[in-house]
Amino acid sequence: MQVQIAANQATNVTTDILVFGLAGRGARSPGWQQLTRILGTNPAPMLKILGWTGKTGDFVSFPAPRAAKCTVIAVGTLAERAGVTDNAVRTLAQRVGAAARTAGLDEAAFFLDHAMGGRGEATEATYQAIGAGLGYGGYVFDNHLGKKNEHKPISSVYAYFSGRRNRDAMADAIQRGVIIAEAQNQARTLVNEPPNILNPESYVQYARDLAAERGLEITVLDEAACAARNMGAFLAVGQGAGYDSALVHLAHKPEGATTRVVLVGKAVTFDSGGLCLKPASGQATMKMDMGGSAAVFGTIAAVAALGLPVEVHAIFAACENMTGSKAYHTGDVITASNGKTIEVLNTDAEGRLTLADALVYGAELKPDFMIDLATLTGACIVALGMNIAGIMGTNRSLVRALKSAGDAADEPMWELPLPPDYRELIKSKIADMKNIGGSYGGAITAGLFLQEFVPEGVPWAHIDIAGPCYVDTPSATRPYGGTGFPVRALVEWIRGL
Ligand code: BES
Ligand code: MN
Ligand code: ZN
Repeated sequence: MQVQIAANQATNVTTDILVFGLAGRGARSPGWQQLTRILGTNPAPMLKILGWTGKTGDFVSFPAPRAAKCTVIAVGTLAERAGVTDNAVRTLAQRVGAAARTAGLDEAAFFLDHAMGGRGEATEATYQAIGAGLGYGGYVFDNHLGKKNEHKPISSVYAYFSGRRNRDAMADAIQRGVIIAEAQNQARTLVNEPPNILNPESYVQYARDLAAERGLEITVLDEAACAARNMGAFLAVGQGAGYDSALVHLAHKPEGATTRVVLVGKAVTFDSGGLCLKPASGQATMKMDMGGSAAVFGTIAAVAALGLPVEVHAIFAACENMTGSKAYHTGDVITASNGKTIEVLNTDAEGRLTLADALVYGAELKPDFMIDLATLTGACIVALGMNIAGIMGTNRSLVRALKSAGDAADEPMWELPLPPDYRELIKSKIADMKNIGGSYGGAITAGLFLQEFVPEGVPWAHIDIAGPCYVDTPSATRPYGGTGFPVRALVEWIRGL
């Protein structure tokens, strides 16, 4: 991305899309003043005709007057008065990025009220949000369309910043936002690829390509290697599939790193439900059941691209949950690599089985923090809806830090408890545990199940992204398909370590 930070009048900047981010209107809004000058009249009547009401999140665009040095003017409301947030800036930039890609415009200039002396203060995080939003909004998934999108994403951005010092820091922040968005978009593509293209075998190659591109270490355990490590829970899930299962371990090990983070992602490339088969409607989106691993993949990609000084491991146990003649049965008793036995009472509760062995493997790396991400339970969607992830964990400060990173990144997480007395619900009569709980609290019983595979003393958090991983009912700000949730939050958290 070509980035320019300066403090010109909007009338003097040559660009394709001139963007105003307003925090109010009238005399107290510098952007409103500049817009008035460009239009030569009070903007309100025209904006109102376009459907703008001045509420936070409003966004309209229209052709620029002939004399202007831009083609299109876009106006977004960041706040009705005070209280602009970087999330509002990111959302605005996302819409600009999407509109530009649709229209084939490749330059944008941002004039945010709070960067021009209006209410609030524009910080590095604000400029990072511009980059992150542009990058996210400019994404299209057209790998399988006969007619590809012929336009490129925005390649040049100007942003107003009144300070003289710190201009380089603001430019760097925009670039950082773009890098994070590109990694997040990689995660989105992994989720969007259909299960015949992205399967447990091809997924290994995606990881090898990333390792080569970003200089990551990579270890791949094939089925024999997993068997040698007694990963009976993970291997059981893939038994009924035509593809071989594999455990992938990527590592970013910068010199001098003092903190080690292990990220584990669910990587069921297609979840048919197994013998406890899902109906067609339930299977339709189950290519996204590897979304946890996609987030882990995108996060380590961003961490490596940014060269963050933290040791990060990305681990995923890739398999497909199918119904082949060797498929695991309802009623099977299997043994995980920590020696614990599990009675399988529902083959559709497979994610926790794959994660069990991946968590045991991850804990052997003696992490300072271990986080798993998984499209684990429909129950979590029932509890929190489509946009909010459930988070559980054994370490207060870790959960708190992840939640606040999620808030800052607009990737919200809400904590659910791990009450020890609910452990009763996963008791089995013939094994150490069963893989389902009762009718209620399904997200929690899944979390308690995972906890059985995390040695005490490892600070651990589990994020259930079954809802926010994928958008099936899109809106202007939530485009269709994989979301890459919560790559931004994880990168922010790692940046803060
Ligand atoms: N992958 C699903 C969970 C899921 C459902 C993710 C909908 C995204 C959208 C998981 O493997 C599953 O099937 N869970 C079962 C567990 C049950 C059998 C205990 C569920 O939630 O119904
Ligand atoms: Mn399932
Ligand atoms: Zn699943």
